[in-house]
Amino acid sequence: MNFRHSDRAKRNPGFRLHHLMLTAALALALAPAIGAAPAPQREAGTITAANWPKAKWPLANDPAMEKRIDALIASMTLEEKVGQIVQGDIASVTPDDVRKYRLGSILAGGASDPGGRYNAKPAEWLALADAFWEASMDTRTGGKAIPIIWGIDAMHGQSNVVGATLFPHNIGLGAARNPELLREIARITAAETRVTGMEWTFAPTVAVPQDDRWGRTYEGYSEDPALVASYAGPFVEGLQGKVGAADFLDDHHVMTTVKHFLGDGGTENGKDQGNTTVSEAALRDIHAAGYLPAINAGAQSVMASFNSFHGEKMHGHKPLLTDVLKGRMAFGGFVVGDWNGHGQIKGCTNTDCAKTYVAGLDMAMAPDSWKGMYESTLAHVKDGSLPEARLDDAVRRILRVKMRMGLFDKPRPSERALGGKFELLGAPAHRQVAREAVRESLVLLKNQNQLLPLSPKQRVLVAGDGANDMGRQAGGWTLSWQGDGTRREDFPNAETIWEGLEAQVRSGGGQAELVADGRYRSRPDVAIVVFGEEPYAEFQGDLPNLMFKNGKSGDLELMQRLKADGIPVVAVFLGGRPLWLNREINVADAFVAAWLPGSEGAGVADVLLRGADGRVQHDFRGKLSFSWPRRANQYQNNVGQKDYDPQFAFGYGLTYGDKGDLPALSEDPGIDPDAAGSGTLFDRGVAGTGLMLRLTAANGESTDVVHPNATTADQSLAMVAINTDVQEGARQFSFRAPATVALQANTPLDWSRETNGELSVVATVRVEQLPAESAVTLGTTCGAACAAEVALGPALSAAPRNEWIRLGVPLKCLAKAGADMSRLNVPFALRAGKGTTLAITSVVLGTEFDRKVECATQ
Ligand SMILES: *[C@@H]1O[C@H](CO)[C@@H](O)[C@H](O)[C@H]1NC(C)=O
Ligand SMILES: *[C@@H]1O[C@H](CO)[C@@H](O)[C@H](O)[C@H]1NC(C)=O
Repeated sequence: MNFRHSDRAKRNPGFRLHHLMLTAALALALAPAIGAAPAPQREAGTITAANWPKAKWPLANDPAMEKRIDALIASMTLEEKVGQIVQGDIASVTPDDVRKYRLGSILAGGASDPGGRYNAKPAEWLALADAFWEASMDTRTGGKAIPIIWGIDAMHGQSNVVGATLFPHNIGLGAARNPELLREIARITAAETRVTGMEWTFAPTVAVPQDDRWGRTYEGYSEDPALVASYAGPFVEGLQGKVGAADFLDDHHVMTTVKHFLGDGGTENGKDQGNTTVSEAALRDIHAAGYLPAINAGAQSVMASFNSFHGEKMHGHKPLLTDVLKGRMAFGGFVVGDWNGHGQIKGCTNTDCAKTYVAGLDMAMAPDSWKGMYESTLAHVKDGSLPEARLDDAVRRILRVKMRMGLFDKPRPSERALGGKFELLGAPAHRQVAREAVRESLVLLKNQNQLLPLSPKQRVLVAGDGANDMGRQAGGWTLSWQGDGTRREDFPNAETIWEGLEAQVRSGGGQAELVADGRYRSRPDVAIVVFGEEPYAEFQGDLPNLMFKNGKSGDLELMQRLKADGIPVVAVFLGGRPLWLNREINVADAFVAAWLPGSEGAGVADVLLRGADGRVQHDFRGKLSFSWPRRANQYQNNVGQKDYDPQFAFGYGLTYGDKGDLPALSEDPGIDPDAAGSGTLFDRGVAGTGLMLRLTAANGESTDVVHPNATTADQSLAMVAINTDVQEGARQFSFRAPATVALQANTPLDWSRETNGELSVVATVRVEQLPAESAVTLGTTCGAACAAEVALGPALSAAPRNEWIRLGVPLKCLAKAGADMSRLNVPFALRAGKGTTLAITSVVLGTEFDRKVECATQ
């Protein structure tokens, strides 16, 4: 890539002035000779719409429809128009609110369900859809009848709803290299979504993830823009139907959201909602690749992204939202925001942001902030800071989509073609397609001595904590936002990987045994070990490096033990991205990347096992759609890049015809595997790398936290996830008796260097309740007989209530209090007494804080 002037100027401020003078001088000298002015200086992050490709929006405006819209808009009050451009979440908005405020849309966020139950029944979803529709059509208290649209994260199937078919997450579909399969998956997802009454999904994600530390990597099909582009069109057509066909946007289809515009997969360090600082050309050629085919296929909405482009939040980025997307690319649907994404624009809050509409957003996603957003937006229209013409344009775009879908002429959701046809959720024909997708998504990385395919006529041990766990194989965005906290019975139309293997081994004449920790009773002929990442979504899945955290059940040790017993091992890895797994790959005889396969675990057995007749049932077809790292710090390792040096290249994937032997891979991860990453101990509710959050009760019993909510067995300490500027961005701890919240290091940390500097443990906390007698302390332990505590009481008592503050505890204080800073097994332990309530959003090592804890000896 060319070294850009602006990049150079940034690194060397002196360069810019000098360069400008030089350019000017050269221009003066050369202009007459070459007859042209030099190219104007451009700031990094400048967007020029003319540099962008034109798309072919396939839907000419229909004059009759436009007349109908004109008449409707002319008859609407300002209040009604503003209602159309604000979207609330079902956890915070009721049908009565819709009746009163005439909102144009509602959504169900990943963590929002009817009655607040993650496993609400499909009929409850449909009844709620009817209730909202009826409210939007109810004109008894005034207002026009404008049908509401309900958007939902049907991310891999109608994945918020119990019983739905769950397809592999997008990373697995990328490995399948099969656009027509994608079309079919989208068609089925649309049908199952209509069953429960919604007409809009927030999919497909056409991100092109470039740094696999990103917690949303699995939502992308590939790191390769061409592969993403090849899927976008068929997927949009599968969801919406084909433009021009009779069934386009009919009751068997849903409208799409192409997301997240733009640059979501290109943020620095793979940080979710971060800053994308690539060139305009890279933004266009890599990150925008999926939008052209999606727009050409008539996608009805595009979602603005949380990320910034060179510091400018996309929700406020007029050149990209308006000039490029709506202008150059002729996008004729509407632009919807992401979860309070507007509130992250400089100068905006969640409840007040005219800027986002001025920049080109048409509908703000204001889940819990909709009322404030509605009121402030109304005021901005009245005072002219949001021009009425822009408001009318946004309303027109939304109404146009509603009319294209024929919604003005439809009955309530339950009376439409598929409404209430619950037998379609997880229908056998749908599950067949999902099972086929699982088979096609599996990628075989190693097959020493051609161990696979396995005969079913043997004793097969199935081990690993992922073998019989629907939540694990389905990943994030499954019933709950993070995909956690579910039980087997929440998945009536599904099979775990174990269940699929067991059925086929049994019918093939062999015996299968499930022992999660691998400690078998009767000696097996072969073992299949299913392990991998715990479910996560969005920023909660961001990683500081690509090290696979050996699971709680000790997957590596488990496989080593089996091998020591002379048992051949097939490793099946469940995960949302390629991670550094060379030790596991070395110990296993065969290694399969199964991604996040969803509800059809039997698809794994279809490929791993021969049939009862001894024949291969299905060969491997999957090819890596993301390059596999050679080291845990090989973050940006994408096909086509300079110095491309992966462990397994983009496109790699063995079949049964290949010799699958691998030499031993290097076991040097390139980083200190157990080090807590980058000085972050706790971030937005999640323990940092190499650390585990542990609650210790008054009676000494401890609970390791794996879900956003947790309580000690004796109820003395309860932790719940609470929202900050992001969903579930902090944890609130309520002490009903003296108890401790601790971060436990997998291997002791050596902070002697950090302690010699001026670093502090900086905790961002909010004091909610603090009885005078609660002795709050921050402590560390350093081996069995080594501990230190510093009193936080004085600093916390003086802190304002219910406000976030950064509290700094100098490491030197902990050392002074007796800690051996070279071997901290618990670097952070917060002890508090009965009646105390504190929230914590982050704990880092740093030098900046609002309040310093004095080192006074206790
Ligand atoms: C994003 O990157 C740009 C450099 O292109 C920088 O000027 C800006 O401060 C960064 N913004 C944030 C929030 O990091
Ligand atoms: C966690 O607790 C909060 C507050 O009680 C609740 O709103 C949320 O649904 C819970 N989350 C899970 C995953 O159980």
